Amino acid sequence: MTPSTPAQDQPLPVVVLISGRGSNLQAILDSAQAAGYQVRGVISNRAEAAGLERARAAGVATRVLDNRNFPDRVGFDRALMELVDSFAPGLVVLAGFMRILTEAFVVHYRGRLLNIHPSLLPAYRGLETHQRVLTAGEKEHGASVHFVTEELDGGPVVLQARVPVLPGDTPDGLAARVLAQEHRIYPEVIGWYARGRLRLAGEVVYLDDRPLSPQGIRRGA
Ligand code: GAR
Repeated sequence: MTPSTPAQDQPLPVVVLISGRGSNLQAILDSAQAAGYQVRGVISNRAEAAGLERARAAGVATRVLDNRNFPDRVGFDRALMELVDSFAPGLVVLAGFMRILTEAFVVHYRGRLLNIHPSLLPAYRGLETHQRVLTAGEKEHGASVHFVTEELDGGPVVLQARVPVLPGDTPDGLAARVLAQEHRIYPEVIGWYARGRLRLAGEVVYLDDRPLSPQGIRRGA
C-alpha cells in the first residue's frame, strides 16, 4: 500500500481574483505545477473579464460576483469572502482585481493575501501609474508584489522588478515592459509562499526566516 503523501507535499490551493485581461493570471497558471501551487478557483467581479476564459482553458473553476448587484462595499466583500472561502485556499492572489477591499476582508486574509501593483511602491500608489511616471520624468519604474494590509497599496513589499524608463517611452510601451516583469515576479513570489519560505509577521516580511527591508527585494530588469 502506498503511504499517503504528507500535507506539505500537496500543492498549495490558491484562489485568484481578477477584473480584466488576466495576463498575470496566465503567468500564474503557467507556473503552478513547477512552483508547487494549484489554482483552485478564479473569481471575477466582471462577467466579461477575458481572464475567465484563460482559467476555463486551464480547467480551473470560475465564478463571477458582480459588485453592481450589491448595495454597498461591505455586502459585496462579505459575499466575496464566502465565495473565496468555499475553495478553502491557502493563499488569495489579487491579479488586476480593480476593487478597493474593506478592512474586514483584508483582516480576514491577513498574511495570505498578495497583490501586484505596477510601480515601485511606495511610489505611485493608485491608478495610471505609467502615465504619472512619464509625466514626472522618472528614470526608473517597475512593479511590486506585496502583502495586502489595511492601507491601500501600502502593505509590506516582497519583491520588486525595476524597469528603466527609455527616451520617447509611451505609457503603453512602458506598461508592456513592466507587465513582462510582473509575469516573472508574481509566480515566483507565490512559489515562495507555496514552499513555506515566505511569511508576514506584523508588518515584516520574512523570506527563509530572514526579515526583508520595507522595500522587499529589488531586482533590475
Ligand atoms: C497589471 O498591470 C497589474 O499590475 C495592475 O493591473 C494590471 C492587470 O493586468 N493592477 C493594478 O493596477 C492594481 N492596483 P492583467 O489583467 O493582464 O494581469
